[in-house]
Amino acid sequence: MFFAWMTGRLVPDEGTMPEPVNKTPFVGADFREEDFQEIVKLLQSRRAFDLGSYKDRCIKRRIASRVRARGLNDSAHYVELLDSDNDELDALLAVLTIHVSHFFRNPTTYRVLEEKILPELIARLQRRGEQQMRIWSVGCAGGEEPYSLALLLHEMKPADLAVSIVGSDVSEPILEQAEKGEYDAQRLAEVPDEVRERYFDRLEGTRFRLKKDIREMVRFCKHDVLTERDYPPADLILCRNVMIYFSREEQARILARFSRSLGPDSFLVLGRAETLVGTVRHLFRSEYPVERIYRCIDTPAGKDVE
Ligand SMILES: C[S@@+](CC[C@H](N)C(=O)[O-])C[C@H]1O[C@@H](n2cnc3c(N)ncnc32)[C@H](O)[C@@H]1O
Repeated sequence: MFFAWMTGRLVPDEGTMPEPVNKTPFVGADFREEDFQEIVKLLQSRRAFDLGSYKDRCIKRRIASRVRARGLNDSAHYVELLDSDNDELDALLAVLTIHVSHFFRNPTTYRVLEEKILPELIARLQRRGEQQMRIWSVGCAGGEEPYSLALLLHEMKPADLAVSIVGSDVSEPILEQAEKGEYDAQRLAEVPDEVRERYFDRLEGTRFRLKKDIREMVRFCKHDVLTERDYPPADLILCRNVMIYFSREEQARILARFSRSLGPDSFLVLGRAETLVGTVRHLFRSEYPVERIYRCIDTPAGKDVE
């Protein structure tokens, strides 16, 4: 068995910093609505990043962390800063699209994938004489999730079936990092020692690089699940710890698009804190509730929720 088992140049420039106006640390609830809307506009116009579909409370909490990091205490001064400082725009974007991940995150999910889901998919595709199995890791951050799947499938070696694994994310810088396949040891904490020895090269200090043949199993591309209507066809989609930041309406639209990409009897994996929402619940059946693994079911009538 395979399993035995953050950003940027943020130092306040004292000379240009407005004085804090009071001493209570700034929190999300302190945002004046017009300042928040100004931030939404700046991100949209300068970075083509649409905050409209994210949950306000989560987003305000994260922006507030930047307000505090810049030594400020009110939202109006932060808007002024954001308007004049491109580095701060990038730092804010990094905080909003937080890229935390690690290899084999939630190991029991990978165990169910290895023992149940992937064998079922492989057997079905082989029976139908299909040429390839398509796996899509949505919001893949630094590539830990699609590469974990590549490691599993490299061990499983499905006969006569090419494996296509795509990792996508809204953030280009994080995809560039993902392509390099280099990680600090802490991202590999769930990787069994013998797997690390076999598939990673040790770099300087505590850094490791995934071997080329595994890196080459994964293709990375930019894809924004909120703004793009085109979702590629897939047999298995993992979208973990991404939708948690989106409004329920947006989650329902994305789930409906996933169900169209998947088709009957293909699988969707969500994050442990995520679940099916809204009118699209009937498009999926829960197969492994703890692991948030769902089977797509064939109900074409229910799929029009755009
Ligand atoms: C917390 S990480 C999750 C990484 C991995 N799926 C996991 O569970 O370990 C969330 C990722 O979602 C990405 N993300 C946020 N909004 C997105 C969007 N609209 N479309 C695609 N990816 C998005 C972020 O850039 C970030 O890399």
